[in-house]
Amino acid sequence: MNALRMLVVLLAILICAAGAGLFWMTSTGMSARATPGPLESYLGRSVRNMSIPKSARSMKNPMTASPEALLEGGRHFADHCASCHGNDGRGATEMGRKLYPPAPDMTLPATQNLTDGEIYSIIENGVRFTGMPAWGGGGPNDHDTWHLVLFIRHLPDVSRQELLDMENNNPRSPAEMQEEQKENDFLNEQSK
Ligand code: HEC
Repeated sequence: MNALRMLVVLLAILICAAGAGLFWMTSTGMSARATPGPLESYLGRSVRNMSIPKSARSMKNPMTASPEALLEGGRHFADHCASCHGNDGRGATEMGRKLYPPAPDMTLPATQNLTDGEIYSIIENGVRFTGMPAWGGGGPNDHDTWHLVLFIRHLPDVSRQELLDMENNNPRSPAEMQEEQKENDFLNEQSK
């Protein structure tokens, strides 16, 4: 009898939870326009960080932050990551802001306090249920990814000069390149 009672209570709880979930979904819809609340963001990040295996979390970056390594990381970031994260890593791009969850400001402690291994794993494996794609095969020795980790660590101190260099490495469509060429030709013509 007791077991039956428990089953009924459990079922009632399940039905209430499903009802609440359905109500939440139909009242907010599946729109990505909203911004996740603090509780949802906290839970999402915690689950993500917990899902990174301990061995991956404690990996050390085999590269050192030489000017060449930072330049390489920055150019790679400009080409592959800046569409969402912005060259300065603050996520203030059209796409980055409108993702659900949005691309975070990576200059802030929430990102900077992640270990090198955590940042590496996130880049290699991506984050399910978010816009963050997986960029690698998941192995521990992807030098390009380790350069990106160096660059992300450097984001809070990135200089104007570095940002200008990155702009040259942001992806452009053929039409944009043609437009730029026309402007340059025009300016060259004027200065003759
Ligand atoms: C299509 C958009 C998009 C692109 C392109 C993209 N990211 Fe992300 N990235 C995201 C989103 C969205 C998140 C937030 C995920 C989350 O909340 O867990 C994120 C999170 C991250 C994080 C975790 C930061 C934190 O504190 O949560 C790192 C590190 C990162 N991205 C690095 C990169 C790198 C490096 C590249 C390029 C190789 C890249 N991303 C390309 C959308 C993108």
